Amino acid sequence: MKKNKQKYYHIITYGCQMNEHDSEKISWLLEDLGYVWTDTKENSDFIVYNTCLVRENAELKVYGQLGALKGLKRQNPDLIIALCGCMMQREEIREIILSKYKHVDIIFGTNNIHKLPQLIHRYEQTGDTIVDIIEDSREIVEDINANRMYSYKAFVNIMYGCNNFCTYCIVPYTRGREKSREPKNIINEIKELTSKGYKEITLLGQNVNSYGKTLNYNYSFAKLLREINKIEGLERIRFMTSHPKDLSDELIEAMASLDKVCEHLHLPVQSGSNKILKAMNRKYTREEYLLLIDKIRKAIPEIAISTDIIVGFPGEREEDFEETLDLVKEVRYDSAFTFLYSIREGTIAANMENQVPDEIKHNRFQKLLDTLYPIFYEKNLNYENKIVEVLVEEVSKNDPNMLTGRTRTGKLIHFKGNRELIGQLVDVRIDKIKTFTLEGCLV
Ligand code: SAH
Ligand code: SF4
Ligand code: F3S
Repeated sequence: MKKNKQKYYHIITYGCQMNEHDSEKISWLLEDLGYVWTDTKENSDFIVYNTCLVRENAELKVYGQLGALKGLKRQNPDLIIALCGCMMQREEIREIILSKYKHVDIIFGTNNIHKLPQLIHRYEQTGDTIVDIIEDSREIVEDINANRMYSYKAFVNIMYGCNNFCTYCIVPYTRGREKSREPKNIINEIKELTSKGYKEITLLGQNVNSYGKTLNYNYSFAKLLREINKIEGLERIRFMTSHPKDLSDELIEAMASLDKVCEHLHLPVQSGSNKILKAMNRKYTREEYLLLIDKIRKAIPEIAISTDIIVGFPGEREEDFEETLDLVKEVRYDSAFTFLYSIREGTIAANMENQVPDEIKHNRFQKLLDTLYPIFYEKNLNYENKIVEVLVEEVSKNDPNMLTGRTRTGKLIHFKGNRELIGQLVDVRIDKIKTFTLEGCLV
């Protein structure tokens, strides 16, 4: 990079928290090279797309954006365009990019983010398109810092990859096999964060419940939580995602007894039909899932439970879908992410017969939302006139006098307050209930 001219970068992130956190690492690496963040692509000297492949719409967005960048590259031939993330782990996608989007300069993957400075250097030396991918890696690179988005809450990876191979899901093919970080590295990272004033951490893994299985000694996720709970200054511990098949009694007990572990569990069910759960390779039945919910609620009565649901998985009949609706009514979720099944080339389900027509998928999707939303609202009614602890997150996007924050149960709260409260824990009395948010006043 030339010494005399300030260079600017911009990152566009798709996908899950794992990708968000990877973008924080990329940002740190670029700032270490002297780049400065800019909000616009037009002002950038370096643009990174951190991509996601989990559903078709995430993929299509990237192609759309790349097409639009051609003009920008013509105006500014020194602009460097880099692509990384889950899409880049697939050879067939890299081929599309290399043949159709020749203005892309650097392609790297999910396992070699730490190499970005070298790749930029190589590109600057040669001007050639750089493609650097590590298919899968046993090794965990520990020494990448992150330029974190917030100063009070942070993501902390505890493991990478996934071994579950749910038949619809591309993640095991983009993130590789499951591997756990050493507990001491995780704990040191959190201690460093709390020493800087961080109050809340979210532990990240595709299936945190199987944490520790790749370590050389016996170590469970519950034990990790117990160790993290001892860290002084830390107020709140969250984690995602829990796979129902691995949710142990030990973990439920830890969640119930550890004061910093928040009363929120994201437990993706995907479907309420045993036939579909089996075809998805989820390895639990509807009955086992419901039993788990029961156990968790007995141990932690105030817990909020959220989930992921896919509609229109291949072979889903009307009666299978009805079972999903029934399950949703029985569990009474606090919130849910709902998805239309999306064919992902390379997965087992992509080749299954009986793909569900789009129109039926959309109808079922709407029915599912019509069932879920009144439940969310009714669950929120329990908060009326209650005083809740809120970690203040930011100024509301719609009203500069309002702040937003979250309860321990993960509910989004709007209330009037001064921006100086951002990052602090405050008490709010709830006086207005909505389906997705609650409103209240500072007490
Ligand atoms: N490891 C996490 C999350 C993985 S992706 C877990 O197991 O819960 C997040 C969600 O995307 C999944 O829970 C699933 O509901 C959804 N998803 C994954 N692949 C999908 C596909 N092909 N079509 C539609 N939704 C999908
Ligand atoms: Fe995908 Fe299943 Fe792994 Fe989650 S557990 S990442 S849904 S394969
Ligand atoms: Fe996440 Fe999408 Fe990859 S959901 S793990 S960024 S495919």
